[in-house]
Amino acid sequence: MQPVSFKGFAGVALKGDAFGAPDDPAVLLIHGGAQTRQVWDEVADALVKAGRHVIRIDLRGHGESEWPADGRYDFNAFVEDLRAVLAQMASRPVIVAASLGGWAATAALGEEGAHLAAGLVLIDSVPDMDFTAVCRPDDETGAQPCFDPVFARSFDPEAAVARVTGAAAHIRMPVLFVRGAESELSGADAAKGFLGNFENVEYAEIREAGQMVAAERADMFSATLLDFLERKVPRFAPEYRQGSDARTLRDALGCFATGVTVVTTLDEEGQPVGLTANSFTSVSLDPPLLLVCIAKTASSLDALEAAENFAVNVLHIGQQPTSNLFAKAGEDRFAATPWSRGHNGAPLLSGALANFECRRHALHEGGDHVILVGEVVRARFEPRRDPLLYFRGKYRRLHFA
Ligand SMILES: Cc1cc2nc3c(=O)[nH]c(=O)nc-3n(C[C@H](O)[C@H](O)[C@H](O)COP(=O)(O)O)c2cc1C
Repeated sequence: MQPVSFKGFAGVALKGDAFGAPDDPAVLLIHGGAQTRQVWDEVADALVKAGRHVIRIDLRGHGESEWPADGRYDFNAFVEDLRAVLAQMASRPVIVAASLGGWAATAALGEEGAHLAAGLVLIDSVPDMDFTAVCRPDDETGAQPCFDPVFARSFDPEAAVARVTGAAAHIRMPVLFVRGAESELSGADAAKGFLGNFENVEYAEIREAGQMVAAERADMFSATLLDFLERKVPRFAPEYRQGSDARTLRDALGCFATGVTVVTTLDEEGQPVGLTANSFTSVSLDPPLLLVCIAKTASSLDALEAAENFAVNVLHIGQQPTSNLFAKAGEDRFAATPWSRGHNGAPLLSGALANFECRRHALHEGGDHVILVGEVVRARFEPRRDPLLYFRGKYRRLHFA
């Protein structure tokens, strides 16, 4: 995380932070009224893991950003701040903005800043939203919890609605509007009415979420956001490759993400044998069958074809070295790997994410591989561990659950 600072309207210092690789496409996160940039913690994490460069700032008078010396704390100042920040950014970001931040973003982009951003994501940001529903005064103190009195004095709701609605009609970039299904800020009808102003807009509702969707259901919000970004503002321009050659086939097959297993058995002398395999698939529940494809060139094949029993060990994220060891020739694979005999004798790797003890069910011809089908006689798994993944020839880990 890197601290960042922008000069807002009339020189106000707007503070924030940046995450991820600066070469990745940028996403600018703008919080709503009475929030700070911390509201984005989980979303920022998910975006960085999905290959985005994230910048998040505090609006003026919020978090670490300055209160303006000239006392300007009106809606126009927020709009000008945002335009100033966009002009200082190295590339055109997608703006993700909540409530007040979203109105400011819509005004900033629709009026004259269209070239400053690549997309806009609005969260519960209907301009004529019902403040009274969420800003009930505190019973004891009478204080308005989420509508700053300085801002309230200078805020003209009707003018802001007209301004934001008018600006929306000029926005041509892809827009996503996200609403908490239980949000009290704006009804679904009001939201859909507002969306009619945009030319290129999608609407999403997040279940089990109120007005703080990005914090309350960060998992569902992040998934919706990443889906929109990958479709509408992809990290790379789509560039399909095609062909009938072996390279294209391998690369295309590598687009199917898998886990990683080690398939084990005992050879005729009772010695453990095993190899790394990601060609594992469940086949049938009744009877319980699975399969794995073993290369005809694999030295383990003879033992696997001959053995009555074998085991499939699914590796967890910490077992990348085990995967490498069982894929490399000439190593004493079991000397360096803790294991024990399963009920049917086949070696079970200790600490694996899951172990399947199998009886050989069938062997099928499969081109340069043999398809080994096993009937599962016993399964064991550890539910809290993350899997080791394999995708496009590289080990990977889960982005988020
Ligand atoms: C991630 C990964 C997945 C693999 N999947 C398979 C597979 O499904 N089937 C296979 O025969 N070999 C697979 N291999 C290659 C074997 O693990 C490798 O050729 C190993 O050295 C074979 O050992 P062996 O010749 O001692 O049997 C994979 C290797 C890696 C790194």
